[in-house]
Amino acid sequence: MKNLIVYYSLEGDTDMIAQELAKKIHADIIRLIPKKQIPTGKFTKFFWGGKSVIFNEKPKLTNGKIAVENYDTIIIGTPIWAGSFAAPIMSFISENNIQGKEIYLFACHAGGGAEKCFEKLQNKLAGNTIKGTVDFIEPIKGMDATSNEKFQHFYEEIIRNKK
Ligand SMILES: Cc1cc2nc3c(=O)[nH]c(=O)nc-3n(C[C@H](O)[C@H](O)[C@H](O)COP(=O)(O)O)c2cc1C
Repeated sequence: MKNLIVYYSLEGDTDMIAQELAKKIHADIIRLIPKKQIPTGKFTKFFWGGKSVIFNEKPKLTNGKIAVENYDTIIIGTPIWAGSFAAPIMSFISENNIQGKEIYLFACHAGGGAEKCFEKLQNKLAGNTIKGTVDFIEPIKGMDATSNEKFQHFYEEIIRNKK
């Protein structure tokens, strides 16, 4: 059984981690793409993103049904929006029946909210086992030694778990 990396990224941070992770572990990788483009303007993106989280919105995705049954381990990556996970992740979870999987979570943020975000994701993913979590501060701006170490520990744990 294979690993699947599923992630959403508005501005490239989560994408960077997902791509680096895919190079380290053997995994299929799927980037969630909403049908409606999310505004990237400085304030409109915060307004739109914040509103989508507060109202538990599930924006329609272009990805269609994802064959989660082909994987026993799913690694989910999200930017932190308003102290939670991004709305397209909500769409992915509600459109797919994710049960009995080993799950790893990673999140990118500007400084905080990871614990709360992981707690909320864990609640949404009841019926699965959360095996590990890791968060990064806007990695595009540069990964310091701590971030590199966290990243290494994260992927090594996934590899070890599969042996
Ligand atoms: C709508 C919105 C809400 C955000 N809310 C938070 C937040 O609550 N806490 C935080 O630390 N960063 C917050 N950020 C910053 C992003 O989490 C951060 O820039 C992240 O690295 C972006 O990942 P991405 O490039 O993969 O989209 C927010 C960004 C957006 C667009």
